[in-house]
Amino acid sequence: MTNPTAAELIARSNRLGSDPRVTNYAGGNTSAKGTETDPATGEPIELLWVKGSGGDLGTLVEPGLAVLRLDRLRALSQVYPGVDREDEMVAAFDYTLHGKGGAAPSIDTAMHGLVDAAHVDHLHPDAGIAIATAADGDKLTATIFGEKVVWVPWRRPGWQLGEDIAAIERANPTAIGCILGGHGITAWGGSSDEVEANSMWIIDTAEAYIEAHGRPDPFGTALDGYAALPEVERRAKAAALAPHLRALVSTDKAQVGHFTDSAVVTDFLTAAEHPRLASLGTSCPDHFLRTKVKPLVLDLPANASLEASIERLTELHEQYRKDYTTYFETYAASTTQSSVAGSLGAGVAQSLARLPQAPPRMRGADPAIVLVPGVGMFSYGPNKQTARVAGEFYVNAINVMRSAETISRYSPISDEEKFRIEYWALEEAKLQRMPAPKPLATRVALVTGAASGIGKAIATRLAAEGACIVIADLDLVKAQAAAAEIGNTDVAVGVQANVTDENQVRAAVDAAVLAFGGLDLVVNNAGLSLSKSLLDTTVADWDLQHDVMAKGSFLVSRAAARVLIDQKLGGDIIYISSKNSVFAGPNNIAYSATKADQAHQVRLLAAELGEHGVKVNGINPDGVVRGSGIFASGWGARRAAVYGVPEEELGKYYAQRTLLKREVLPENVANAVFVLCTSDLSHTTGLHIPVDAGVAAAFLR
Ligand SMILES: NC(=O)c1ccc[n+]([C@@H]2O[C@H](COP(=O)([O-])OP(=O)(O)OC[C@H]3O[C@@H](n4cnc5c(N)ncnc54)[C@H](O)[C@@H]3O)[C@@H](O)[C@H]2O)c1
Ligand SMILES: [Zn+2]
Repeated sequence: MTNPTAAELIARSNRLGSDPRVTNYAGGNTSAKGTETDPATGEPIELLWVKGSGGDLGTLVEPGLAVLRLDRLRALSQVYPGVDREDEMVAAFDYTLHGKGGAAPSIDTAMHGLVDAAHVDHLHPDAGIAIATAADGDKLTATIFGEKVVWVPWRRPGWQLGEDIAAIERANPTAIGCILGGHGITAWGGSSDEVEANSMWIIDTAEAYIEAHGRPDPFGTALDGYAALPEVERRAKAAALAPHLRALVSTDKAQVGHFTDSAVVTDFLTAAEHPRLASLGTSCPDHFLRTKVKPLVLDLPANASLEASIERLTELHEQYRKDYTTYFETYAASTTQSSVAGSLGAGVAQSLARLPQAPPRMRGADPAIVLVPGVGMFSYGPNKQTARVAGEFYVNAINVMRSAETISRYSPISDEEKFRIEYWALEEAKLQRMPAPKPLATRVALVTGAASGIGKAIATRLAAEGACIVIADLDLVKAQAAAAEIGNTDVAVGVQANVTDENQVRAAVDAAVLAFGGLDLVVNNAGLSLSKSLLDTTVADWDLQHDVMAKGSFLVSRAAARVLIDQKLGGDIIYISSKNSVFAGPNNIAYSATKADQAHQVRLLAAELGEHGVKVNGINPDGVVRGSGIFASGWGARRAAVYGVPEEELGKYYAQRTLLKREVLPENVANAVFVLCTSDLSHTTGLHIPVDAGVAAAFLR
């Protein structure tokens, strides 16, 4: 049963969060204060509903709210030990929860609870952050908003910021909110509608001022030779660079990538001021936690050759790592983590023991954002969603920089303050609470023929184990539909490719690389089967079988190997061969011969690609009737006729002739593919695994 105040808060949050002008993904938080009957006493109590840690306003639902007792939350002011130990207050929130408390309260809960007004919005609109990061943000705030909006100098989010804002609210009865220096905006109101109107008024007024008072060319003149390349050329260069970039940014740990070549990015990279602005870094804490303090920017024009670009990126990456290490070492030495002892109650002190006490450990010196003039932006993270959002945040940062430079000078918070946020004990604790990554996290898989049958089961399994999936099949609509069954486009995408066509295969590999930043696992599964005797097999039959399977998997392996070699992260190529690659069955000359060809490709490529750390293995399935398009489209009927059983009995027939008497399902093949890709089989290459429930005639020796 939702409290009407909470319901109203959810509706407002969803409206605000779905407008990109209002806040970035998962940025900002909203709250409402109201009464409810205390189930323990039957008396009315005052509660605070506030968006919990990490949630997104646009998609907020009731379980995403933290619910706190207002009197107890405000009582914490009495035990607040001062700004040096404000982090301890987060643990103290545990003693103010109503019932189980809902979602974990975020650090901004203090601001929401301490402000008197019943309804509060804290948001990260690009226009608001632009004023917040302008060199003269305090003066601009007074000029633009008069007494209605008050400037709050930069302060790290926390209890003290809440106290400061509450004091401002009390001291400025005509104010409706404030600009938080280096950070964002906060608005308040007596009703949900009023705070929403106040938030929108601040954002609209900021946007209108920037529009009316800005310089026309905030990023400076256009640099010669830095304009975006034409689309086809741009994408081809991006796809060629991507594996090399992934090799660089995965120096500390493997990352997944996202590519953006929208005009907002390429225009920024064309402008004369982009190197200066990029080196200032992002400002809003939300932004740089995702983007890292600074991007890596290639300082070559759009027409720089691939070789020259890679050489320069390698140098810049080395420099980036050195700079990041210096940044870390400079500020880590002066960062003291919160201490446990103190004036808070014993219960609070105990909870605080959960905060990491040791000095921070460097989390990795590779960039999250790489900017390539003429081409676009590559963004990276431990999974696709994180990589995509990092890119979106850098677009927010570009918008912020443009608007700040339009009306003033962009002046983000200092590196020291950025460091304090990036290596905040509370952030560290949040990271340590994250579930362990799945076995195939950060790996990108391309599965051919995965719109149906065995391929689809393989794609589904690899996705469930954390891999990003590209489904390549003849029909785009079917490929996309299969991908959509597996997950959204952060999980799986579908592309059209006839594996017999060299250009289409290359395009599919490029699409995979642009979708997820690279490629690690390649499954040659596409196939079809004709069951014909030697005398009935036409040249066209022979060619079709060999084109799709022998030639198709050669083309896919070749295109993929280029990426795997450039990426220097090893990888797996897996062939779905067949029992028929070793078993001489009747009426099967074209199919079985091409399967034998595929099986020998496994051994040949295992021998050739081993030096690059690429493993090549195969699976020999047999009799997978259920879900198989091959069986449904005539092959099943013909095999049934060959064996003299009714078609619907074929699965059982195959099961009975196996040693284990079990029917083989697409999932059994998928399981074997997964096992080959795990670190448990890290030392195995050139192997075929039979998945046939035991067929002695097809034993490997
Ligand atoms: N089903 C079995 O018993 C069995 C046994 C051994 C091996 N295999 C092999 O497993 C693989 C998958 O078979 P399945 O039973 O799932 O069949 P399926 O027909 O259900 O799936 C095959 C997929 O490959 C796609 N495909 C066909 N030609 C293609 C091309 N030129 N380019 C891109 N995609 C193409 C099809 O559109 C289809 O989606 C095949 O290589 C098959 O030979 C199957
Ligand atoms: Zn914020």
